[in-house]
Amino acid sequence: MHLGRTTLSKFLIQQLDGIEGARELGALLVDVAAAVKAISAMTAKGALAGLLGKVDSQNVHGEVQAKLDVIANDVLIRSNEWGGLVAGMASEELDDPYPVPPEYPRGRFLLIFDPLDGSSNADVNVSVGTIFSVLRHDRTDAPATADFLQPGSAQVAAGYAIYGPSTMLVLTIGKGTHGFTLDHEIGNFILTHPAMTIPADTSEFAINTSNARFWEAPVHRYVTECQAGRTGERGRDFNMRWIASMVAEVHRILIRGGVFMYPKDTKDPSKPGRLRLMYEASPISFLIEQAGGRSTTGRERLLAVTPTSLHQRVPVILGSANEVARIERYHAEHAAGHDAEFVSPLFNERSLFRPEARS
Ligand code: AHG
Ligand code: MN
Ligand code: MN
Repeated sequence: MHLGRTTLSKFLIQQLDGIEGARELGALLVDVAAAVKAISAMTAKGALAGLLGKVDSQNVHGEVQAKLDVIANDVLIRSNEWGGLVAGMASEELDDPYPVPPEYPRGRFLLIFDPLDGSSNADVNVSVGTIFSVLRHDRTDAPATADFLQPGSAQVAAGYAIYGPSTMLVLTIGKGTHGFTLDHEIGNFILTHPAMTIPADTSEFAINTSNARFWEAPVHRYVTECQAGRTGERGRDFNMRWIASMVAEVHRILIRGGVFMYPKDTKDPSKPGRLRLMYEASPISFLIEQAGGRSTTGRERLLAVTPTSLHQRVPVILGSANEVARIERYHAEHAAGHDAEFVSPLFNERSLFRPEARS
């Protein structure tokens, strides 16, 4: 019954053929998949294993860590530190890069991850995920922080796991975006969603509308037009979703199209966005582009953004290509002063000076 199914290992051997360091990269992705299986088992046990709730510590972003944030981070570190495949790792949950311990050989790749994305959803039993990015480190010495600061376009592989009703691994090595479903009985990831493709058009958008008063004019214009539905500028009704787990939003978009936005806003002028460039926005943008979608900050292609620090934030607008291109056009028109009739008096740059801090 299982003969002929494509396992992750078989897929990687076929797809990586001809890529520099193919064997090592394949082995690294298999190690990441092993960590994902362990995290999947833990998220599934939840309260039965006492794994829900918070721990008494904060990460570099000042966010209180969930137990599962800390455990998922440890699982990824332990799975990948010993095999001689990575030169170093970086994580949302670690202030600084994690060097490979001296007792283990160093490899030629850097692995960066958000161990548990959407961890505020864990306690309420809504889908969470893991996001990862792989970069090259073409030297034999230990990497410094600066070695990690490569633009998203330099990634050699990226992916996410989603821990939902089924556990899936979705990845790209720059040859399309492909989805695998974990067969728990066999313990293998099986290729179930080859060459995922995002429809260019959509009538579904995702944004946290509680931030509406902080949005910039182009985002406000776009959302207002969607909400106006068939009687407005767009001439059709739109649907809205917000799961508060980027992985889950992106998975929906890869399956049936849509737009996801966590745009630049004025909530806290010191933060140019909510999401983190290196372990959220860049890997997800690689997957989105490889599936035929678009990803932008509103002002430039997201994969072109060169990081200046490990944990920097970035505005994110991604999904169905025609809709994202429209939102980019709205930003360009606003910058050129060509959208005066769309700028609501409720909504302007005065809020730049509001003192509220982002939670
Ligand atoms: P994380 O749990 O890794 O900190 O990431 C949460 C992110 C992202 O997954 C989601 O889209 C967003 O934060 C949710 O933001 P809101 O709290 O504004 O809904
Ligand atoms: Mn996250
Ligand atoms: Mn996280």
